[in-house]
Amino acid sequence: MQYLAVRGGKPLRGSIPIHGAKNSVLPLLAATLLTPERCVITGCPEISDATAATEILRHLGCTVEWRGASVIVDASQASGNAIPSELMGKMRASVTFLGAMLSRFGWGRLSAPGGCRLGVRPINYHVAALEALGVKWDGESEDWRCRWEARFGGEVTLPFPSVGATENLLLASVSVPGVVTVHNAAREPEITDLCGFLSAMGAEISGAGTADLIIRGGKPLHGAVWHVMPDRMETASYLAMAAACGGDVALTQTDPMLLIPVLDALRSAGCRIETTGKTIRLLRDRPLRAIGTVSTAPYPGFPTDAQAPLMAAMLLAEGETRLIETVFSDRFSHVPELRKFGGAIETDGNCAIVTGVRRLTAASAEATDLRGGMAAVIAALCAEGESRIYGLDLIGRGYAQWIDYLGLLGADVSLQEE
Ligand code: EPU
Repeated sequence: MQYLAVRGGKPLRGSIPIHGAKNSVLPLLAATLLTPERCVITGCPEISDATAATEILRHLGCTVEWRGASVIVDASQASGNAIPSELMGKMRASVTFLGAMLSRFGWGRLSAPGGCRLGVRPINYHVAALEALGVKWDGESEDWRCRWEARFGGEVTLPFPSVGATENLLLASVSVPGVVTVHNAAREPEITDLCGFLSAMGAEISGAGTADLIIRGGKPLHGAVWHVMPDRMETASYLAMAAACGGDVALTQTDPMLLIPVLDALRSAGCRIETTGKTIRLLRDRPLRAIGTVSTAPYPGFPTDAQAPLMAAMLLAEGETRLIETVFSDRFSHVPELRKFGGAIETDGNCAIVTGVRRLTAASAEATDLRGGMAAVIAALCAEGESRIYGLDLIGRGYAQWIDYLGLLGADVSLQEE
């Protein structure tokens, strides 16, 4: 079994470029299905979730070619195949192919999506919203059959600003000959990125980045070239890592404006953060201090995906930090792993209370999900002695070149086999 050996305790120094965003590239790739013309997505991160999305496109009859960090999709020969459960189960974002299939073929056939285990992750908001626009659902979660009974515009209000449901609504609505208004839509920058690409393809969408999206559907869509936005969560993870280990780290090709609550939290922990254009530099040369209470929330709040990396950074921070998870029902699976390093964490429902300790000691830990895996790596990087991190595939789902990046920052890590 493969594991990462981490000899912790070294400050990090250096500069690394941030990749294109995982949570943007996946719906962007789904959107390439909407037109028979060629689309080019540039700045694609080499992560296994992006590969899984291209496998779905190929299964649907598209020609997909990776050229460096660009993915060229020709969906001219796409045919309406059902997406098998092996492909659906690889990630949560596979569900956004439903909206794209409904637009392109008029129907979609698929099973429940996979994804990180973060508590219950139903798709009831997707179902109710698409039904309100005229989609008929049949079958069980292992084989859903969906098709338009009629395509009509209208107003849909999401019970929660779900990222995936908003993406599915956008992808389906561009084919509706009428006006679709989505209230309480997700405002995440990845939604704005998707709206940008759809508009570049000829769609008419207003309100991107707000809670009210208006889609004037039925416009013919054509091929387009789009550059993926920078990954906010990769950026947040390396910032948390630099804060935890200390040192001087610069992250380039990112966007500081998309990370304000994360930067605020790390500044209040005692880190010096300088932002210039697309670069964020974090310096930490004094002990970390606890940051009080941080609650996760939909954008523009503190991102749930940064909760686990921040928790790892707070393990050595003097005082008590309370992290409240409000987006997912069970996103603390990293807590038992972080305790293995000597982290003092108590949980009470959706609140984790971290009391800073003086030192962490080496341990063997498992990546329990993508972000929790990175949190375990962060803890290992600050622990005395040699740690082992297992479950590396989960981390590779969303962090491109991450082991190389650790080396570039001066961390003492190596891939081992046992
Ligand atoms: N929810 C429902 N019913 C639905 C849809 C969502 O109850 O039909 C609930 C979920 O169970 C969850 C909450 O609403 O409790 C938020 O879910 P949302 O739909 O917003 O999340 P998602 O689309 O499944 C995306 C990202 C996640 C990120 C969340 C929140 C992708 C592929 N995934 O998930 O990313 O945490 O939005 O920002 O875009 C990650 O990158 O590590 C990750 C988990």
